[in-house]
Amino acid sequence: MQDLPTSMRTDMCGTLTAADAGRTVSVCGWVDRRREHGEHLAFIDLRDHTGVIQCVVNSSHDLRSEYVARMTGLVRPRPGETANADLATGEVEIEVTEIEILAEAEPPPFPVNDRIDVDETIRLRHRYVDLRKERLQRNLRTRARVNSAIRAGMEEQGFVEIETPMLIASTPEGARDFVVPSRKEPGSFYALPQSPQLFKQLCMVGGIDRYYQIARCLRDEDLRADRQFEFMQLDAEMSFVSQEDVFTAISHAVANAVEAVTGERPGDFERMTWQEAMERFGSDKPDTRFGMELVELTEVFDGTEARVFQAPCVKGIRMPDGVAALSRNQIDALVETCQRWGAKGLAWMKVVDGENGPALDAGVAKFLSEPESKAVINALEAEPGDMVFLIADTRRVVRHVLGLLRLELGRPPVNEGGLHFLWVVDFPLFETIADNGSPVPAHHPFTMPHVDDMDLLGASGETLLDVRSQAYDLVLNGWELGSGSIRINRSDIQNRIFELLGIGEAERQAKFGFLLDAFRFGAPPHGGFAFGIDRLTALLLGETNIREVIAFPKTQSGADPLTSAPSPIDSAHLEELGIRTLPPAT
Ligand code: AMO
Ligand code: AMP
Repeated sequence: MQDLPTSMRTDMCGTLTAADAGRTVSVCGWVDRRREHGEHLAFIDLRDHTGVIQCVVNSSHDLRSEYVARMTGLVRPRPGETANADLATGEVEIEVTEIEILAEAEPPPFPVNDRIDVDETIRLRHRYVDLRKERLQRNLRTRARVNSAIRAGMEEQGFVEIETPMLIASTPEGARDFVVPSRKEPGSFYALPQSPQLFKQLCMVGGIDRYYQIARCLRDEDLRADRQFEFMQLDAEMSFVSQEDVFTAISHAVANAVEAVTGERPGDFERMTWQEAMERFGSDKPDTRFGMELVELTEVFDGTEARVFQAPCVKGIRMPDGVAALSRNQIDALVETCQRWGAKGLAWMKVVDGENGPALDAGVAKFLSEPESKAVINALEAEPGDMVFLIADTRRVVRHVLGLLRLELGRPPVNEGGLHFLWVVDFPLFETIADNGSPVPAHHPFTMPHVDDMDLLGASGETLLDVRSQAYDLVLNGWELGSGSIRINRSDIQNRIFELLGIGEAERQAKFGFLLDAFRFGAPPHGGFAFGIDRLTALLLGETNIREVIAFPKTQSGADPLTSAPSPIDSAHLEELGIRTLPPAT
């Protein structure tokens, strides 16, 4: 803890120890707690961001909760039995000789105490009081360290910080744009950047070679624990690279951030193809902190008599000691949950001690032939006491639902199990085929196809879903931390992709004309990446919601109870912008 002396204070509240006994000090802060002690004495805990110090004052002073005060006095050891081992300053107190009330305060809307739960809206309405809490102080200071470690990490590698504009035309990240009306051109709008994607690519055409930015991004999408309207990315782009170069650069910056927070550099990041992640974990952002992997059982049920398992794909997971852990009601609830997730049902069985080793019992066990039972037990390496869960459906549904069930049954709390970084590589180029027959891009339309799959670009229909791309994600403990790709810099490939996506000449020009124009003037091979700083910081701190690492976040519904944004603007202002609002839809 650093002492930050000013003209008003000599020391910070949280830094005083037995070694300071005998010194006369001045400290400044907020009144955390007041306890009366006999007729003339009161104990005041004074708080600043470093902690609290007990101050012994004359009780006639009117010092209430959250008053701002300056205390001067002698540091002395607390009498033996009154020392507080839980407090960094617990061995000492200040015998106050001079008190200065710097500001009075109304009673706070809620106690400044991490252990008391307060409604989110009230916390955010009075965020300035909320920020005084130890948790938020720690989180925001950690976030600042993450930022500076990332910055240093990028600069060490020759990345140049470039600021890109906030008032732009639309970017192709796939969320809804926030827009800003133009006064000079009524009826026209700027978009706020969903990311600096197009500008960073222009920087590569401009010879910047290595760009980075700690960039604010804005996306109008539904908010969740890991999503806000505004968030920060470490955004980077590099020229003359393959994806390996991007991995090296980004891993270095991430490792710097981890080290700044935990004191240790993470080990090598794991690698997995998208295909493998989907088959083994049912997710493109697998949480690899725990097992319970999806096991392929399709062959086991090839030609089965059991109607439930007559499907193109069957997979199962094993929940160790699940029999004792799950009640019948809980199992029934899981079946319903899986149906809500899109499966027809959830087949479950208990593993029991049979005459010849582990056997299946209860649930759908009676529908399985002897060899099928044996094969399921072997494939899942099931032991007596385990529960096994199977789903039969299309491969897509099986992976999706079992992947979610795996998380539901086995996912450790956010702050357990260490940090498991994983590069997921070889993402498919297209996500689905739309109703009009055009493929939908999985990333953005500038993503370079995989070198081995260029020939497949001539195909059509479902075959296109097999085309891999040079797009990759970084995953941490089951959260998507970031995404990137090698970009297309050749017009023949780009034109083919636009053709496949059904983006015609006019739309190309309207949406990306400036980028395509730039590419005609010499575009180096390039690629990049962006990861979410809010998400990284939250995970490093063991927080489940990124709002806990953001100073002034929005509520779940996207409002800011502190400033009342969003709010109407007056009619004169609207007039100037050429905007007439509709009455709210009822
Ligand atoms: P992408 O859209 O995957 O890629 O975003 C990169 C990372 O940004 C974070 N993120 C968010 N964090 C909080 N709230 C949100 N609403 C939110 N949306 C995204 C995530 C995500 O992984 N331009 C590309 C990158 C590239 O190709 O170089 C991009 O923005 O951690
Ligand atoms: P049913 O024969 O439809 O009553 O289903 C018997 C059991 O199998 C129930 O527990 C269902 O939830 C489950 N089940 C049904 N369809 C499937 C499926 N496609 N995959 C896995 N389990 C299923």
